[in-house]
Amino acid sequence: MGKKKILITGAFGLVGTDLVAELRKKHSSQDIVVIAHKTVREGFDVIVEHGDVTDETFLEHVIKKYDITEIYHLAGLLSVGSEKYPQLAWEVNLGGLKTVLDLAVKYNLKVFWPSSIAAFGPTTPKDNTPQHTILEPTTMYGVNKVAGELLCQYYNLRYGLDVRSLRYPGLIAYKAPPGDGTTEYSVHIFYGALQEKKYTCFLAKDSRLPMMFIDDAIKGTLQLMEAPVEKITIRTSYNFGSINFTPEELVTEIQKIMPDFTCNYSPDNRQKIADSWPKSLDDSQARMDWGWKPEYDLAKMTRVMIEEVYKKLNTKVSLRAK
Ligand code: SER
Repeated sequence: MGKKKILITGAFGLVGTDLVAELRKKHSSQDIVVIAHKTVREGFDVIVEHGDVTDETFLEHVIKKYDITEIYHLAGLLSVGSEKYPQLAWEVNLGGLKTVLDLAVKYNLKVFWPSSIAAFGPTTPKDNTPQHTILEPTTMYGVNKVAGELLCQYYNLRYGLDVRSLRYPGLIAYKAPPGDGTTEYSVHIFYGALQEKKYTCFLAKDSRLPMMFIDDAIKGTLQLMEAPVEKITIRTSYNFGSINFTPEELVTEIQKIMPDFTCNYSPDNRQKIADSWPKSLDDSQARMDWGWKPEYDLAKMTRVMIEEVYKKLNTKVSLRAK
């Protein structure tokens, strides 16, 4: 097998930032290419190309220029952004994916594309949501995810494309700033805690959602991509589970380390999105097929987030462990 040359779109987002750092441990800076559109941050020791992922000519030029063999196609609008700009979400989230899949067929590339718990909807069973279940999402983001999952499976069946996908739960990370998502309160809350010792949560205190710490998400993503092809039995997208919690449970956990921290609840239009999503996932297929096993529980994730956001903000807030 030849050398891997990896292209990452959405490299400056919540997933991309950690993914690039992890890939960089295994590959040289000349074997990783990232596409920068609006957001560019310093500190990436990789090749940066500037352009738009929905521009097929540009993408093809990059693929050819660097002899790309693998794409992690992460660029897209999240749930809240997609409700604000549904037309744009369709163009970027689905148009971008279609462009990537077509080029992947042409240049024989392996593809990773993230789906989400947003593929599920109000009619889906909410607890321990099965792999194969009702997919009737009511958000534009979710509609994009279901259509994208089916498109991935179609390209695999029709063209033999090796495209792999995970239904990411809410992801909690500290390297990149949080994006425009519904589960993102679980990232914002740490900045609130460390900057002001308080936070106003835009979801109700009992809103349970499936969540995952970023290190687990990156580990699982790379594990899926490295798994032997015969192990991959799902070509839509794998349920990908770890922890689940409510805002109130997260607050209690933060208060064990920062007893002065307080949280108010002021649910807004994002509550409706959260209410349409599952509370927990059955990810036994991923565990069985390629050995998925998360490592972070709520307490460990909270501890690491507080430590890392604290370092990042260089804050004066004092941390006092119980
Ligand atoms: N974190 C995402 C969102 O809330 C879920 O895929 O939009």
